[in-house]
Amino acid sequence: MIRTGYLLLTTLLLLAGCGASDNSGSDADKQAQVWLPVGGAATVEWQASLGFLQFIPGLPLEELAQVSRGRELFVADWEMAPGARPQLDGLGPLFVAGACDLCHTANGRAASLLADGQIGSGLLFRLGDASGQPDPHLGGQLQPFATVGRGEGDVSWQDDGSGKPQFVLSNPTHALAAGVHLGPRLSPQLTGVGLLNLVPEEQILAYEDESDSNADGISGRAHRLQREGQDCIGRFGWKAMQCSLRGQSAGALQQDMGLTSVVNPQEPCTEHQDICASQPSGGNPEVSAEALGQINEFLSVLAVYERRVSDNAAFERGAQLFAQTGCEACHRPTLTTRTDAALAPLRGQTIYAYTDLLLHDMGADLSDGVGEGNAQPQEWRTPPLWGLGLLENDGVSRFLHDGRAQTLPQAILWHGGEGLAAKQAFEQLEQSQRADLLSFLRAI
Ligand code: HEC
Ligand code: HEC
Repeated sequence: MIRTGYLLLTTLLLLAGCGASDNSGSDADKQAQVWLPVGGAATVEWQASLGFLQFIPGLPLEELAQVSRGRELFVADWEMAPGARPQLDGLGPLFVAGACDLCHTANGRAASLLADGQIGSGLLFRLGDASGQPDPHLGGQLQPFATVGRGEGDVSWQDDGSGKPQFVLSNPTHALAAGVHLGPRLSPQLTGVGLLNLVPEEQILAYEDESDSNADGISGRAHRLQREGQDCIGRFGWKAMQCSLRGQSAGALQQDMGLTSVVNPQEPCTEHQDICASQPSGGNPEVSAEALGQINEFLSVLAVYERRVSDNAAFERGAQLFAQTGCEACHRPTLTTRTDAALAPLRGQTIYAYTDLLLHDMGADLSDGVGEGNAQPQEWRTPPLWGLGLLENDGVSRFLHDGRAQTLPQAILWHGGEGLAAKQAFEQLEQSQRADLLSFLRAI
């Protein structure tokens, strides 16, 4: 692998060379683009030993103190109340995991579909019907654990031969209501989420084309939501259910860990569940506004990783094929962050996240029958593709919202609905073109 600094320099020199000899240059030369660092000033070189736990360079000292406190809260094992460490108690009484880090292991992807039919810590389950109504007894998310007694139920999975995992709920404390399904959600890697948090809403809206006015078969739409009393555009989660890192963290604290905060002061119990009222609380709220802020400082400064390009020509060919096959219509190469961000390295950066942050109808095969907010069961937010190739070889990670794809090409072949034409174009590529596209995908 070529070192990043060297690579960037050679790329720029090569591009400068192309420009200079433009008269005789081929079409490919003319189209060769200037590649800025993937995450602007928030880019670092990938170091396998540090994994996804790298911070953006050049942070001021006082910021680092907040970040390290936030990191402690992210990896901490929360306990039931009353605990020996009052700042870390209040877990449950219903919960999915006792630490953020259990699902976002080292900020990457944890195991999801285990070979024996069990579910790893990287997968949780929403509960809802097609119109987005939660289960009246168990709520909008399954909490398989409880601090006392037993959790709401266990899930296992089966392969029915089609490659789409079938999920089975056993021992539920209450049977699911008619029309309510399990909505599997894989824990995504947390790369560059601080940058995505800072993309202005106008940019997301500019990519919207709900009635497909340009007739390209792609009709992405923004997920319009209300959070903390304000209208906002969803951007985080597989269905873009949260507008900000603050909302995402507070949602995780409540639904995944049973921890209340200023944003979500209620425990995750429905009116039919009395365990929340009968168990001691870890404070009001259990996670202070200061602690929530520190978690978000930690998430905000997570770096993105420089491209891993070993063959520049193949990379350029792959980039062109990525555009030609139509991937770019949803996986938009660049976005730009706000200019008024608190931290200088995050301000006004061009970032190569490969997403439009919009919802798209991806076809029946990717539907799980669960609506969320205003998102239909078939609709998913275009996930960012940066750094995804780094996950492919870790032996654990899987792809797509339910982890059904073991490799990147498998993930592409599940695209349907608005993504069907791109998938078919990918299938029709010659072997060598496919290899170029995949090498590009693995390098970005
Ligand atoms: C039980 C597993 C689990 C725990 C615990 C958990 N998460 Fe997550 N996280 C997920 C899943 C699953 C998603 C995708 C959610 C969705 O699709 O709505 C997610 C999404 C996110 C995202 C958005 C990423 C993106 O690209 O859209 C952030 C940020 C995040 N989690 C942070 C946290 C923080 C901070 C904590 C601890 C307070 C936490 N998570 C605890 C499973 C978990
Ligand atoms: C219509 C919009 C659209 C188009 C076109 C499209 N994608 Fe996607 N892509 C998505 C959405 C939405 C998902 C998430 C689907 C899910 O998880 O159910 C996704 C998921 C993926 C994933 C897995 C991501 C992850 O985090 O696990 C990869 C890899 C991917 N796309 C690559 C491509 C490539 C390569 C092309 C072009 C051949 C392409 N996509 C075309 C919208 C699109």
